[in-house]
Amino acid sequence: MFGLFLISYIRFTVFFKKQKINYKNVDSAPPRNDISCVSAMVVFDMNIHQALKVATKKLVHLENPPLEAEVLLATLLNKNRTWLRAHDDHTLTFTQSLKYKWWTSQRALHKPVAYITGEVEWNGLNLKVNKHTLIPRDETEILCLHVTEAQTKAPKNILDLGTGSGCIAIYLAKNWPQANVTALDISSLALQTAQNNATLNQIMINFQLSDMLSALNTNTHIDLIVANLPYVPKELTVTAEVSQEPKTAIFSGDDGLDHIRSLAAQIKSKTITFNQLWLEFLPSQTKDIETIFNDYQVEFKTGVDDQIFFAKITTRV
Ligand SMILES: C[S@@+](CC[C@H](N)C(=O)[O-])C[C@H]1O[C@@H](n2cnc3c(N)ncnc32)[C@H](O)[C@@H]1O
Repeated sequence: MFGLFLISYIRFTVFFKKQKINYKNVDSAPPRNDISCVSAMVVFDMNIHQALKVATKKLVHLENPPLEAEVLLATLLNKNRTWLRAHDDHTLTFTQSLKYKWWTSQRALHKPVAYITGEVEWNGLNLKVNKHTLIPRDETEILCLHVTEAQTKAPKNILDLGTGSGCIAIYLAKNWPQANVTALDISSLALQTAQNNATLNQIMINFQLSDMLSALNTNTHIDLIVANLPYVPKELTVTAEVSQEPKTAIFSGDDGLDHIRSLAAQIKSKTITFNQLWLEFLPSQTKDIETIFNDYQVEFKTGVDDQIFFAKITTRV
């Protein structure tokens, strides 16, 4: 009898001790009889070293799995990668573990990091991004550098055509706080994000829904136009990451130049004048840009690897 009692007592104690062990390091204990929560906690009660190990395995098909795993975890913890290495025995909270697991699953499906974290640092700006906005590229930072260097006096009015996340408009508006900045896009969802980004960066911009220049009056003069329009030929194969960005932000007909041709035609038909018009495009499209804007003076500028990616278009003198 006593033997039976002893066995029951031991089982009972071990059960509750196990529960206690599982609950340690967990933000808030789940309901006592929620078996799924308990097993989830056992899985997620891990430190940085273990978390990175699991994530690296999960991302093994990507180009640099350890780096991918570190970047995601550093962003999630709001630390840098050096901090991670110095604190590899730091235990993640339950919420952090769950979120990290979710983020790595998303990354394993090739979702771009900026879409997973929902933000990007670009040209010194913190910007929100989502599936409705192109993720601003390093290339476009160089475009902005060329644009700012090419101004001998501050432009009074600026147009950003195809604003997406609002990156170019916000950057230029910060650079020339006195300028009137208008930003157009065909996507109302992208415009919502752009407006949100302008507010977060405390910048006033006139955002308008517009198919190319349709929102502008005829006979308008704009000092500076920057147009980073879609320019990828529609048959070009893009990476699994790029294919998750909005197609309307990337592709532009057979040769990638439909939007730029349409811009040139609208400038003429609406008699829009400007001091400078800046474009971004592919190096292989350089000759076509010259042809499309043959009534203008076209000066090409280089991006990464000394390749031509940009053009400054001005009126012939
Ligand atoms: C290459 S993305 C550039 C986004 C942003 N300016 C940047 O540099 O990251 C092109 C943008 O043009 C917009 N767009 C596409 N077709 C358009 C059109 N017909 N009229 C106005 N904007 C358009 C897309 O929605 C997208 O936001």
